Amino acid sequence: MMTMKKAVMFSVAALLAVSTMATQAQEAAAPAETQTADATEVTEVTTAEATAEAPTQAAAPAEEAPKESPQVQKLVAMYPNLIARIAPYGKVCFDGEECDINITVLAPAVEGQARDGESLYKAICATCHDAGLIGAPKIGTSDWASRIGKGTATLYNHAINGFNAMPARGGADISDEEVQNAVDYIIQQSS
Ligand code: HEC
Repeated sequence: MMTMKKAVMFSVAALLAVSTMATQAQEAAAPAETQTADATEVTEVTTAEATAEAPTQAAAPAEEAPKESPQVQKLVAMYPNLIARIAPYGKVCFDGEECDINITVLAPAVEGQARDGESLYKAICATCHDAGLIGAPKIGTSDWASRIGKGTATLYNHAINGFNAMPARGGADISDEEVQNAVDYIIQQSS
């Protein structure tokens, strides 16, 4: 048990270090795709090391991997930017266990170029609108009939500025045009 704890702490410390390095690398404006690939590789090495450090771990009774609680789901939903940023190197996984959180990472914004509604939806809005989290209308269902009835201008406005539990821009740092693309995608999938 102690060894397991130590391994976990080691792994978290290593991840922090990796994440700092990766952030610095990112600031040096490395191409995003290479970035992600590198970071993933490092994470795998880290996990392997952590496991190697604790050879007795296998003998201990397997602990149940915690499922994403509604609270965690909400956190993920509220901070999509943060999660997307740490996702490539923020995973703690052990052999034979499923990784805790899987996130669709959005391609980085290109100056003056809006990303397409489908990618934006999947990376940001899906967290709530796929499953109907915290009362969000579910995509592709009749939940949207009355919403669409409000008119596109109202939906754009509410998606950009927020509406009750719907966070402004889905809580993400995206442009007006990108929010509108995501709304268009939802409407198209739900009409
Ligand atoms: C944190 C969860 C969450 C995320 C992330 C989220 N939404 Fe929502 N959204 C909601 C909830 C909850 C509502 C229902 C609010 C209400 O009607 O009280 C809603 C409602 C809406 C509506 C309908 C507004 C209306 O006037 O009826 C639109 C449009 C919308 N969301 C678009 C988006 C788009 C586009 C994204 C991604 C950029 C997004 N949402 C991300 C939770 C979320």
